[in-house]
Amino acid sequence: MQTHDAGCLDEQVIAHICEQLTITGYCVVQDFLPQLVINALYLEACSDQRLNFKQAAIGREQLQQVNTNVRSDSIAWITGQSESQGLFLKLMENLRIEINRRLFLGLFDYESHYAHYGPGDFYKRHVDAFKGSSNRLLSSVVYLNADWTEADQGELLMFHDEEVSPFLIVEPIFNQCVIFLSEQFPHEVRAAKRDRYSIAGWFRTNNSIGGQIDPPR
Ligand code: OGA
Ligand code: MN
Repeated sequence: MQTHDAGCLDEQVIAHICEQLTITGYCVVQDFLPQLVINALYLEACSDQRLNFKQAAIGREQLQQVNTNVRSDSIAWITGQSESQGLFLKLMENLRIEINRRLFLGLFDYESHYAHYGPGDFYKRHVDAFKGSSNRLLSSVVYLNADWTEADQGELLMFHDEEVSPFLIVEPIFNQCVIFLSEQFPHEVRAAKRDRYSIAGWFRTNNSIGGQIDPPR
């Protein structure tokens, strides 16, 4: 267990993430967030009525559509509306700055949402960003599931290119985080046997041209 306070991420964790991103393009971290923060986020995620989860859509802006053949989870955007969301965003902002400082990735901002997969919900194989057409550069997923066991399934499967077997299987266990290059890795969420909560997020670059702000706010 980590002993650091709620205001910052562990220095060694940040160094480890940056090193792994450079070597392999992805990183899995256990005990990612300070206890106080992860506990508060967990409580908020489980209290559905406060967050107003909505059926997730795919695609960007006007092209967004709900397609339950691709994904059947529900999401609630993280806006900073609660103290726990505020703490989370502050920590991810800290991580964004540290990654930029060490890897010069030019990450511009971070967007994130809670995701709730009910039993049987899934997200078929996809990439979070298509090469050159998006400003999502780094994906992150933090898991909020206490007492998860292998029998609960709901794993995140990560693939290299067109390969059929995953090179990495991530169990959605409490306070585990996976971070990866958004364009690099097709991935899928296997259906789980019980409710599965997470926070998915993306560090974005700034693609603004000629006064048109992109990413849109
Ligand atoms: C996503 C996603 C993975 C997970 O939301 O884009 O791939 O394990 N989530 O929840
Ligand atoms: Mn994804």
